[in-house]
Amino acid sequence: MNIIAGNFKANLTRAQVASYTAQLDSSLDSFLDSQSAQNTLPRVYLFPSSTALLDNTFKHFRIGAQNAHFANSGGFTGEIGLSQLQEFHLSSIIIGHSERRGIFNESQDFINQKFRFYAQAGFEIFYCIGEDLKTRQQGQKALGDFLESQLSGIDTSYSKLIVAYEPIWAIGTGESASVEQIESTHTMLASLTSAPLLYGGSVNEKNAHEILSIPHVNGVLVGSASLKVENFTQIIQAGFSPSL
Ligand code: 13P
Repeated sequence: MNIIAGNFKANLTRAQVASYTAQLDSSLDSFLDSQSAQNTLPRVYLFPSSTALLDNTFKHFRIGAQNAHFANSGGFTGEIGLSQLQEFHLSSIIIGHSERRGIFNESQDFINQKFRFYAQAGFEIFYCIGEDLKTRQQGQKALGDFLESQLSGIDTSYSKLIVAYEPIWAIGTGESASVEQIESTHTMLASLTSAPLLYGGSVNEKNAHEILSIPHVNGVLVGSASLKVENFTQIIQAGFSPSL
C-alpha cells in the first residue's frame, strides 16, 4: 500500500488548513464512493505548520508534525514538545528534513536524539535523507556513503520507521530526480532497511503515477504540489492500488 504525505512547510494558515482538510476528507469520500471497493486507499498524511495543527480525527488521513523538540515540555523557546503534540493526538513526525539539517543546522547527533525520543514515544517517524548536487556528482560510492551517514545512529529496524529519500537538488525546483536515479537509490536503500521508502523532490500530479510505479518506491512526500487540495487529491488518486 502506498503512503502519500503532504509537507506544507511554513505555508498555509490555520484557517486555510481547516478548509483544506475538510475538503480533502469529503473529496476522498466521493472518490471512494464512485470507485466502490475496487481500490485500496493509500495511507495519507498531512504535515501542517505548528500553528495549524488540528486534532487528528479525520476519516481518510492522519495529521503529523513537521518538527518538535525531543522533550515533553520545558525551556525550549520557539519549539514545541511531545505534550503539545499529544494534545492533538498526533503520533507521526518528520525528522531529518534537509531544511532542518541545512537551514537550522541540525547535526546527525541532534537528529539521533530526536529519533530516539520519538521512537520511545511510539511515533511513526518519517525520516528524511538526501544528498546535495555536489555529492550526487561524485558518483554512486560517494552517494551511498553519504546516505548511509545520514542513517547513522538510527534504528533502521524500528517498526514505525518510514524513510523518505529527498535529494536536495530536486526539492522545490520543479525538476524531480529521474526514474533511473530514483530506482537505483531506492534499490540501494532497500538493502539497508525494510522500512517503506518514500521519494520526495518536485513530485506533482503529473509525475506521481510514474514515480509510484518505480520498484522500491512505496510512496511520496510532497511539498509544493500538496498546497492545493485539487493537486494533492490527484496525487492520492495516483497512489491507489487495486485491491486483491
Ligand atoms: P517539493 O515537493 O516542493 O519539491 O518539496 C519536497 C519536500 O521537501 C517534501 O518534504
